[in-house]
Amino acid sequence: MDAQPTAPVPPPGCPAHQPGGRVPLYGPEYAADPQAYYAYLRHYGPTAPVEITPGVEATLVTDYATALQLLQDSGSFRKDARRWRDFNEGRIAPDSPVLPVLAHRPNCMYSDGAEHLRLRQSITDSMSRIDPMRLSQSVERISDFLISQFAERGSADLIGSYAKQLPLFVFNELFGCTADIGDRVFFGISGIFDGVNAEKAGEVLFQAVGELIALKRRKPGEDVTSWLLQHHTDLTDEEMLHQVALLLGAGAEPLVNLIGNTLHRLLTDDRYAHEGGLIEEAMDDTLWENPPMATFAAHYPVSDMEFAGQKLTAGDLMLVGFAAANTGPVLSAARKAGSNRAHLAWSAGPHACPSKEPARQIAVSAIENLLNRLPDVQLSVPEGSLTWRPGAFSRGLATLPARYTPIKPVTRPTRQTTAQASALPTAVAARQPEQAGVWSKFLNWLTK
Ligand code: HEM
Repeated sequence: MDAQPTAPVPPPGCPAHQPGGRVPLYGPEYAADPQAYYAYLRHYGPTAPVEITPGVEATLVTDYATALQLLQDSGSFRKDARRWRDFNEGRIAPDSPVLPVLAHRPNCMYSDGAEHLRLRQSITDSMSRIDPMRLSQSVERISDFLISQFAERGSADLIGSYAKQLPLFVFNELFGCTADIGDRVFFGISGIFDGVNAEKAGEVLFQAVGELIALKRRKPGEDVTSWLLQHHTDLTDEEMLHQVALLLGAGAEPLVNLIGNTLHRLLTDDRYAHEGGLIEEAMDDTLWENPPMATFAAHYPVSDMEFAGQKLTAGDLMLVGFAAANTGPVLSAARKAGSNRAHLAWSAGPHACPSKEPARQIAVSAIENLLNRLPDVQLSVPEGSLTWRPGAFSRGLATLPARYTPIKPVTRPTRQTTAQASALPTAVAARQPEQAGVWSKFLNWLTK
């Protein structure tokens, strides 16, 4: 991944071999070697013409300084997707797989100016009320539960059985979900990101989030949903629905990839194979070289303009290649060394991720607990056989098969908070474990 081919040769199979062809940021070839694509894209200059799924064109910023310039210039570049020209002119199919990520919603990610400040403030204030100690305990308890499901087997897929599940369990606790609502949130978010029956999954998610908001209006608790409702910005029910769905969606997928990509680095790179203290370092290197969101931060120019030597038309879809910009050859080693956190993995400017502290804490605790419980965990297949999920935005493994010396599962939680206990409705305890969803199963395990 560190190799940086410099010759302007399109990667094999790339339609850019055809004159005028846009470079595809999707499909198995791109997923197998995105760095070869970025190396080629750089020959266009700081920005390049790409296609993010068949028929959806974008301009990709591949240069670090140019990316910062775009992300910090909210006068010229806006986030409101209702400015997207190709969409407005009917060139995007209504069932395009990128619409769930790019289409406008009334939440902070797609708003600008004063409206953005108001919506974002409700999120930053509410997220800042999370108690780091309680969060660590919650991650540890959830991690123990997930590990206990495969501890005795001696082998597990660390994506499917661990990285993919842990963030959703943590969110269910953070947002104060009951067992029934939590199961549906889990189903909805997993379905949207797996792309299997995504429309149905979206419906289930919004229905469950709507019920959660109604519940917290009636009966507030010590959770992010209640804090958002109590915030002085007085969010409407519709805004609440989209803000909570955004937090769950924007948080889950990148967290899965942050845990998975860091575990991949720890298990495949000998530099980290020594004990202790290297999780943070592996995570920083992952955020630089293999960030969970490879390409994101859709912006739209307000007017026709020239930018980085390129003519743009108002409403063009502009994307920032965080992975490309972070790994560009002009970004000197000195800059990296000066500030090991100056990468763009959390974006930058007014829309930079507002949750990077809790997100980092969740990912570090999840990895630390896994390595403590399974100290000899190692990859069980050759590294070259691992596959990465295709798609322009996310960067994550399909599976991470591992083996370890089997251990006795942890049968009881280490600690249980009051909020945890109160999240357990009596109906769950009465349900048969095999009928329960994954979140219900966890709550049952807690009370064993
Ligand atoms: C607790 C987990 C997380 C939550 C709740 C969360 C939430 C959010 C929210 C609400 C935004 C929109 C901010 C705005 O528009 O003003 C955002 C943006 C962003 N987040 Fe996070 N996030 C989480 C984890 C992560 C992780 C692990 C990464 C990757 C390292 C990440 C990368 C980003 C990026 C790149 C953006 C900018 C998106 C854009 O401009 O389109 N986030 N996040």
